[in-house]
Amino acid sequence: MIQKPRGTRDFLPDEMEQRRAVEKRMRDVARCWGYREVCTPEFEELELFTARSGDGIIEEMYVFEDKGGRMMALRPEITAAVQRMYLNEARVTPKPLRWCYFADCFRYERPQKGRYRQFWQFGVELIGADTPVADAEVIMLARDLLESSGVSFSLHIGHLGFMKALLSDMDLKEQRILMRYLDKKDYDGLKGHLGVSGSSDLYNSLTTLLECRSLDEVTEITGKIPEYERIEETFGLLDELEIRYSVDPGIARGLDYYTGMVFEAFADNLGAENQILGGGAYRLAHLFGGDDVPSSGFAIGFDRVMVSLGDSAGKPERVVGIVYTPEGRAHALRVARAFREAGCRTETDIMGRTIGAQITHASKSAQFVAIIGSREQESGTVTLKDLISGEQRQLDLPSAIHEVVTSGPRG
Ligand code: HAM
Repeated sequence: MIQKPRGTRDFLPDEMEQRRAVEKRMRDVARCWGYREVCTPEFEELELFTARSGDGIIEEMYVFEDKGGRMMALRPEITAAVQRMYLNEARVTPKPLRWCYFADCFRYERPQKGRYRQFWQFGVELIGADTPVADAEVIMLARDLLESSGVSFSLHIGHLGFMKALLSDMDLKEQRILMRYLDKKDYDGLKGHLGVSGSSDLYNSLTTLLECRSLDEVTEITGKIPEYERIEETFGLLDELEIRYSVDPGIARGLDYYTGMVFEAFADNLGAENQILGGGAYRLAHLFGGDDVPSSGFAIGFDRVMVSLGDSAGKPERVVGIVYTPEGRAHALRVARAFREAGCRTETDIMGRTIGAQITHASKSAQFVAIIGSREQESGTVTLKDLISGEQRQLDLPSAIHEVVTSGPRG
């Protein structure tokens, strides 16, 4: 039997309903913050992703040559594509641009729980704003989106300026290598690399920096970095709005385009793959042939949020099963139509089963059955049975519909 590709998943209806319910809550939050949805292609020219990070990231991507000999890649993330789109389509649109997306990404990773080769991100990009209040806005939106999903999480905020202050004697390439070790929390690798490059003395200050949990502690190690006032202002705004977060100078972010504030969120109940959100301030447009534009944003790992929510992600929608005898069929189909028009998920028998078999089948998914025989056909009523309480009553159609619509979701 042919199986699905490694690192991908099939989603059955129950799971899709839960995913759509959480997605809808996130969309509602983004809308309330003024972020409007955009959509970019699933594949892009490879160069879009290598422009910043170099050819090294090809190993982590799905790359292919198309029939015209062009090198393409399935998008491993959406930020670069959104910046390209901004340059192509919206460069002259008044700033700031507040955009959001819900889209699948592809990374050639070693699959495990919470780490897939195809996964979905709910993300936002705030383009053309470079102020402390813009930084605070994306962080507050990140928090609101995660809150709306019901996931239990902690938010960590840092700034690349802290690490850069310690690494200021090194060239950019070396800084990037070290930040990758820090991002992966690979302290042995970091130690080894510093040893080889003759900078072992940095190991202690870097690892002490990672332990700091306040701006004052950080400043004792790095001195007052040029961005200090701005960082202080952003933290001040978050404090005034009572946003809970930890100062975390250890956040290095794996992607190479970040420039300032960076943040991540971690689910409380997940193991190794517990990072459910990552983002920060960045600059990318200049690499794609456009004017530089300060931007910030983040993406939520939607699948990890769903893993974290587990069974608490939501109950299946209530279903009405329309059960009928052969004489009641026409009335049954009319009743089904009326339930559907009232917005109820309604299923009728299409297998020619007996009433008993229809009820048994319906009870697997339905909360209610509407039984229709010749008596109901003649009086234009339905016999509504609540399969959870066992209660059964003959009602006129509007009352039956009212009863179903006002009942809660399946317990
Ligand atoms: P990222 O940290 O690479 O950032 O990905 C964002 C989130 O996607 C991660 O925090 C994680 O939850 C989820 N994620 C990443 N890889 C996988 C995977 N293989 N399987 C499941 N979930 C995964 C970005 O992608 C940036 N574009 C975020 C951003 C937007 N920065 C600025 N704007």
